[in-house]
Amino acid sequence: MSTRPRTPAPATPAPGKLPLPELLEMKRRGEKIVVVTAYDAPSGRLADEAGVDLILVGDTAGMVMHGHPSTVPVSMEEMIFMTRWVTRGARRPIVIGDLPFGSYQVSDEEAVRNAIRFVKEGGADVVKLEGAGPMLPRVRAIVEAGVPVMGHVGLTPQTATALGGFKAQGRTAEKARRLEEGALALEAAGCFAVVLEAVPAPVAARVTASLRVPTIGIGAGADCDGQVLVWHDLLGMYAGRTPRFVKRYAELADEIVDALGRYAADVRSGAFPEERHTYSIPDAELEAYEAELDARG
Ligand code: KIV
Repeated sequence: MSTRPRTPAPATPAPGKLPLPELLEMKRRGEKIVVVTAYDAPSGRLADEAGVDLILVGDTAGMVMHGHPSTVPVSMEEMIFMTRWVTRGARRPIVIGDLPFGSYQVSDEEAVRNAIRFVKEGGADVVKLEGAGPMLPRVRAIVEAGVPVMGHVGLTPQTATALGGFKAQGRTAEKARRLEEGALALEAAGCFAVVLEAVPAPVAARVTASLRVPTIGIGAGADCDGQVLVWHDLLGMYAGRTPRFVKRYAELADEIVDALGRYAADVRSGAFPEERHTYSIPDAELEAYEAELDARG
Protein backbone atom coordinates (compact mmCIF):
# COMPACT_ATOMS: atom_id res chain seq x y z
CA MET A 1 0.00 0.00 0.00
CA SER A 2 1.34 3.45 -0.90
CA THR A 3 2.22 5.69 2.04
CA ARG A 4 1.95 8.71 -0.21
CA PRO A 5 -0.86 11.01 0.99
CA ARG A 6 -3.81 11.65 -1.25
CA THR A 7 -3.54 14.91 -3.16
CA PRO A 8 -6.05 17.20 -1.47
CA ALA A 9 -9.17 18.14 -3.37
CA PRO A 10 -8.18 21.64 -4.43
CA ALA A 11 -10.37 24.41 -3.10
CA THR A 12 -11.68 26.56 -5.96
CA PRO A 13 -9.09 29.30 -6.36
CA ALA A 14 -10.27 32.92 -6.48
CA PRO A 15 -10.68 34.28 -10.04
CA GLY A 16 -7.33 35.44 -11.40
CA LYS A 17 -5.34 33.48 -8.81
CA LEU A 18 -2.27 31.64 -10.15
CA PRO A 19 -3.31 27.96 -10.04
CA LEU A 20 -1.03 25.90 -7.80
CA PRO A 21 -0.38 23.14 -10.44
CA GLU A 22 1.02 25.89 -12.68
CA LEU A 23 4.17 25.83 -10.52
CA LEU A 24 4.95 22.29 -11.73
CA GLU A 25 4.42 23.46 -15.31
CA MET A 26 6.76 26.41 -14.71
CA LYS A 27 9.45 24.02 -13.48
CA ARG A 28 8.88 21.82 -16.53
CA ARG A 29 9.16 24.82 -18.87
CA GLY A 30 12.27 26.12 -17.04
CA GLU A 31 10.42 29.34 -16.15
CA LYS A 32 11.68 30.84 -12.89
CA ILE A 33 9.23 31.27 -10.01
CA VAL A 34 9.34 34.64 -8.23
CA VAL A 35 8.61 34.76 -4.51
CA VAL A 36 8.84 37.65 -2.06
CA THR A 37 7.76 38.08 1.53
CA ALA A 38 5.10 40.63 2.46
CA TYR A 39 3.42 41.48 5.74
CA ASP A 40 0.58 43.93 5.04
CA ALA A 41 -2.00 44.97 2.46
CA PRO A 42 0.07 47.63 0.63
CA SER A 43 3.04 45.29 0.22
CA GLY A 44 0.71 42.49 -0.93
CA ARG A 45 -0.81 44.83 -3.52
CA LEU A 46 2.59 46.11 -4.72
CA ALA A 47 3.97 42.56 -5.07
CA ASP A 48 0.88 41.61 -7.07
CA GLU A 49 1.26 44.72 -9.27
CA ALA A 50 4.93 43.80 -9.89
CA GLY A 51 3.91 40.35 -11.16
CA VAL A 52 5.34 38.29 -8.30
CA ASP A 53 4.08 34.66 -8.41
CA LEU A 54 3.98 33.77 -4.72
CA ILE A 55 3.91 35.89 -1.57
CA LEU A 56 5.25 34.44 1.65
CA VAL A 57 3.82 35.95 4.82
CA GLY A 58 7.01 34.88 6.53
CA ASP A 59 7.74 34.67 10.23
CA THR A 60 10.75 36.87 9.35
CA ALA A 61 8.16 39.50 10.27
CA GLY A 62 9.36 38.87 13.83
CA MET A 63 12.69 40.44 12.90
CA VAL A 64 11.94 42.94 10.14
CA MET A 65 8.54 44.17 11.36
CA HIS A 66 8.32 43.47 15.09
CA GLY A 67 11.93 44.15 16.11
CA HIS A 68 12.70 40.73 17.66
CA PRO A 69 16.24 39.32 17.33
CA SER A 70 14.86 36.09 15.77
CA THR A 71 11.71 34.58 14.27
CA VAL A 72 11.04 32.43 17.35
CA PRO A 73 8.75 34.75 19.37
CA VAL A 74 6.21 35.26 16.57
CA SER A 75 2.74 33.99 17.53
CA MET A 76 -0.05 32.40 15.49
CA GLU A 77 -2.28 35.41 16.22
CA GLU A 78 0.31 37.79 14.77
CA MET A 79 0.80 35.59 11.71
CA ILE A 80 -2.96 35.30 11.06
CA PHE A 81 -3.36 39.04 11.50
CA MET A 82 -0.63 39.82 8.93
CA THR A 83 -1.85 37.15 6.51
CA ARG A 84 -5.32 38.71 6.55
CA TRP A 85 -3.77 42.07 5.61
CA VAL A 86 -1.71 40.59 2.77
CA THR A 87 -4.62 38.63 1.30
CA ARG A 88 -6.65 41.85 1.19
CA GLY A 89 -3.96 43.40 -1.02
CA ALA A 90 -2.85 40.49 -3.24
CA ARG A 91 -5.07 38.88 -5.88
CA ARG A 92 -3.04 36.81 -8.39
CA PRO A 93 -0.10 35.59 -6.26
CA ILE A 94 -0.45 32.41 -4.24
CA VAL A 95 -0.24 33.51 -0.60
CA ILE A 96 1.75 31.28 1.77
CA GLY A 97 1.12 31.44 5.52
CA ASP A 98 4.30 30.60 7.44
CA LEU A 99 3.57 28.36 10.43
CA PRO A 100 5.45 30.00 13.34
CA PHE A 101 7.66 28.15 15.82
CA GLY A 102 5.55 26.17 18.28
CA SER A 103 2.46 26.05 16.07
CA TYR A 104 3.17 22.64 14.46
CA GLN A 105 5.94 20.86 16.38
CA VAL A 106 3.80 19.39 19.20
CA SER A 107 1.35 17.18 17.30
CA ASP A 108 -0.22 16.48 13.93
CA GLU A 109 -3.58 17.69 15.30
CA GLU A 110 -2.19 21.07 16.34
CA ALA A 111 -0.35 21.41 13.02
CA VAL A 112 -3.56 20.71 11.08
CA ARG A 113 -5.60 23.07 13.28
CA ASN A 114 -3.15 25.91 12.78
CA ALA A 115 -2.78 25.29 9.03
CA ILE A 116 -6.56 25.46 8.70
CA ARG A 117 -6.61 28.72 10.68
CA PHE A 118 -4.25 30.25 8.11
CA VAL A 119 -6.68 29.35 5.33
CA LYS A 120 -9.98 30.10 7.08
CA GLU A 121 -9.02 33.17 9.10
CA GLY A 122 -6.02 34.54 7.20
CA GLY A 123 -7.20 33.78 3.65
CA ALA A 124 -3.88 32.03 2.84
CA ASP A 125 -3.83 29.61 -0.08
CA VAL A 126 -1.14 27.31 1.34
CA VAL A 127 1.19 27.04 4.36
CA LYS A 128 4.91 26.54 4.90
CA LEU A 129 6.76 24.77 7.69
CA GLU A 130 10.44 24.20 8.46
CA GLY A 131 12.34 20.92 8.63
CA ALA A 132 12.04 17.33 7.43
CA GLY A 133 12.52 14.15 9.60
CA PRO A 134 10.08 14.52 12.50
CA MET A 135 8.08 17.10 10.55
CA LEU A 136 7.16 14.65 7.76
CA PRO A 137 4.05 13.31 9.56
CA ARG A 138 2.95 16.95 10.06
CA VAL A 139 3.25 17.58 6.32
CA ARG A 140 1.25 14.44 5.52
CA ALA A 141 -1.46 15.35 8.04
CA ILE A 142 -1.84 18.92 6.77
CA VAL A 143 -1.88 17.83 3.12
CA GLU A 144 -4.48 15.16 3.91
CA ALA A 145 -6.59 17.84 5.58
CA GLY A 146 -6.65 19.67 2.24
CA VAL A 147 -4.05 22.40 2.79
CA PRO A 148 -1.07 22.37 0.40
CA VAL A 149 2.31 22.60 2.15
CA MET A 150 5.64 24.15 1.15
CA GLY A 151 8.68 22.56 2.81
CA HIS A 152 11.85 24.35 3.96
CA VAL A 153 15.28 22.75 4.49
CA GLY A 154 18.87 23.94 4.82
CA LEU A 155 19.09 26.85 7.22
CA THR A 156 15.82 26.72 9.16
CA PRO A 157 15.77 29.94 11.21
CA GLN A 158 13.27 28.66 13.80
CA THR A 159 15.83 26.05 14.89
CA ALA A 160 18.98 28.10 14.17
CA THR A 161 20.24 27.55 17.73
CA ALA A 162 20.24 23.78 17.22
CA LEU A 163 22.04 24.29 13.89
CA GLY A 164 24.78 26.33 15.58
CA GLY A 165 23.55 29.72 14.36
CA PHE A 166 22.55 31.39 11.11
CA LYS A 167 25.03 29.41 8.99
CA ALA A 168 25.06 27.80 5.56
CA GLN A 169 24.02 24.13 5.64
CA GLY A 170 24.94 21.04 3.60
CA ARG A 171 28.63 21.87 3.35
CA THR A 172 30.00 18.35 3.85
CA ALA A 173 29.28 15.32 1.66
CA GLU A 174 27.33 13.70 4.51
CA LYS A 175 25.30 16.84 5.30
CA ALA A 176 24.58 17.48 1.60
CA ARG A 177 23.29 13.90 1.25
CA ARG A 178 21.07 14.28 4.34
CA LEU A 179 19.74 17.58 3.04
CA GLU A 180 18.83 16.00 -0.31
CA GLU A 181 17.16 13.08 1.48
CA GLY A 182 15.15 15.54 3.55
CA ALA A 183 13.98 17.44 0.46
CA LEU A 184 13.01 14.20 -1.29
CA ALA A 185 11.13 13.02 1.80
CA LEU A 186 9.22 16.33 1.92
CA GLU A 187 8.23 15.86 -1.72
CA ALA A 188 7.13 12.27 -0.99
CA ALA A 189 5.12 13.54 2.01
CA GLY A 190 3.15 15.78 -0.36
CA CYS A 191 4.92 19.19 -0.42
CA PHE A 192 4.15 21.18 -3.57
CA ALA A 193 7.54 23.00 -3.36
CA VAL A 194 10.58 23.13 -1.09
CA VAL A 195 12.55 26.18 0.06
CA LEU A 196 16.33 25.65 0.13
CA GLU A 197 17.94 28.24 2.41
CA ALA A 198 21.69 28.94 2.67
CA VAL A 199 22.76 25.82 0.78
CA PRO A 200 25.85 25.62 -1.49
CA ALA A 201 24.79 26.27 -5.08
CA PRO A 202 25.98 22.89 -6.47
CA VAL A 203 24.08 21.03 -3.74
CA ALA A 204 20.92 23.07 -4.42
CA ALA A 205 21.31 22.39 -8.16
CA ARG A 206 21.53 18.66 -7.50
CA VAL A 207 18.48 18.72 -5.19
CA THR A 208 16.56 20.76 -7.78
CA ALA A 209 17.34 18.16 -10.45
CA SER A 210 16.28 15.31 -8.14
CA LEU A 211 12.92 16.82 -7.15
CA ARG A 212 9.79 16.70 -9.29
CA VAL A 213 8.37 19.72 -7.41
CA PRO A 214 9.98 23.16 -7.64
CA THR A 215 12.74 24.33 -5.30
CA ILE A 216 12.69 27.95 -4.16
CA GLY A 217 16.15 29.17 -3.24
CA ILE A 218 17.32 31.80 -0.80
CA GLY A 219 21.08 31.79 -0.71
CA ALA A 220 21.06 28.58 -2.75
CA GLY A 221 22.30 29.72 -6.17
CA ALA A 222 20.79 30.29 -9.59
CA ASP A 223 19.79 26.71 -10.43
CA CYS A 224 16.82 26.57 -8.07
CA ASP A 225 13.44 26.69 -9.82
CA GLY A 226 12.61 29.99 -8.13
CA GLN A 227 13.97 32.57 -5.71
CA VAL A 228 12.62 34.18 -2.56
CA LEU A 229 13.87 37.31 -0.81
CA VAL A 230 12.67 39.12 2.28
CA TRP A 231 10.85 42.39 1.46
CA HIS A 232 12.93 44.57 3.80
CA ASP A 233 16.23 43.07 2.59
CA LEU A 234 15.45 43.48 -1.08
CA LEU A 235 14.18 47.03 -0.66
CA GLY A 236 16.87 48.20 1.76
CA MET A 237 14.53 48.72 4.72
CA TYR A 238 16.20 46.55 7.39
CA ALA A 239 18.86 47.98 9.69
CA GLY A 240 20.05 44.58 11.04
CA ARG A 241 22.70 42.27 9.61
CA THR A 242 21.99 41.33 5.99
CA PRO A 243 23.07 37.88 4.78
CA ARG A 244 25.49 37.68 1.82
CA PHE A 245 22.81 36.21 -0.42
CA VAL A 246 20.72 39.39 -0.36
CA LYS A 247 20.69 41.67 -3.36
CA ARG A 248 19.29 45.10 -2.61
CA TYR A 249 17.15 46.56 -5.39
CA ALA A 250 16.45 49.84 -3.56
CA GLU A 251 17.60 51.81 -0.52
CA LEU A 252 14.18 52.76 0.80
CA ALA A 253 15.33 53.28 4.40
CA ASP A 254 17.62 56.09 3.21
CA GLU A 255 14.82 57.58 1.12
CA ILE A 256 12.38 57.39 4.05
CA VAL A 257 14.81 59.04 6.50
CA ASP A 258 15.55 61.75 3.93
CA ALA A 259 11.84 62.39 3.31
CA LEU A 260 11.03 62.48 7.04
CA GLY A 261 13.96 64.85 7.65
CA ARG A 262 12.70 67.23 4.96
CA TYR A 263 9.16 67.05 6.38
CA ALA A 264 10.45 67.84 9.89
CA ALA A 265 12.47 70.80 8.57
CA ASP A 266 9.41 72.15 6.68
CA VAL A 267 7.15 71.86 9.73
CA ARG A 268 9.72 73.62 11.90
CA SER A 269 10.29 76.42 9.40
CA GLY A 270 6.60 76.85 8.55
CA ALA A 271 7.20 75.86 4.90
CA PHE A 272 4.57 73.14 5.31
CA PRO A 273 1.61 73.26 4.93
CA GLU A 274 1.24 75.64 1.99
CA GLU A 275 -1.98 77.26 0.74
CA ARG A 276 -2.59 74.30 -1.63
CA HIS A 277 -2.63 71.87 1.29
CA THR A 278 -5.49 73.67 3.08
CA TYR A 279 -9.29 73.88 2.65
CA SER A 280 -11.22 77.05 1.86
CA ILE A 281 -14.49 78.34 3.29
CA PRO A 282 -16.76 80.73 1.33
CA ASP A 283 -16.14 84.38 2.36
CA ALA A 284 -19.80 84.87 3.41
CA GLU A 285 -19.62 81.83 5.72
CA LEU A 286 -16.36 82.98 7.22
CA GLU A 287 -17.80 86.48 7.83
CA ALA A 288 -20.90 84.96 9.47
CA TYR A 289 -18.73 82.76 11.66
CA GLU A 290 -16.54 85.69 12.73
CA ALA A 291 -19.61 87.84 13.40
CA GLU A 292 -20.98 85.06 15.61
CA LEU A 293 -17.70 84.91 17.53
CA ASP A 294 -17.67 88.71 17.93
CA ALA A 295 -21.28 88.65 19.20
CA ARG A 296 -20.29 86.04 21.80
CA GLY A 297 -17.65 88.51 22.99
O1 KIV B 1 10.03 33.61 7.07
C1 KIV B 1 10.56 33.82 5.97
O2 KIV B 1 10.56 34.94 5.45
C2 KIV B 1 11.21 32.69 5.29
C3 KIV B 1 12.04 32.98 4.09
C4 KIV B 1 13.34 33.51 4.50
C5 KIV B 1 12.14 31.80 3.20
O3 KIV B 1 11.06 31.59 5.73
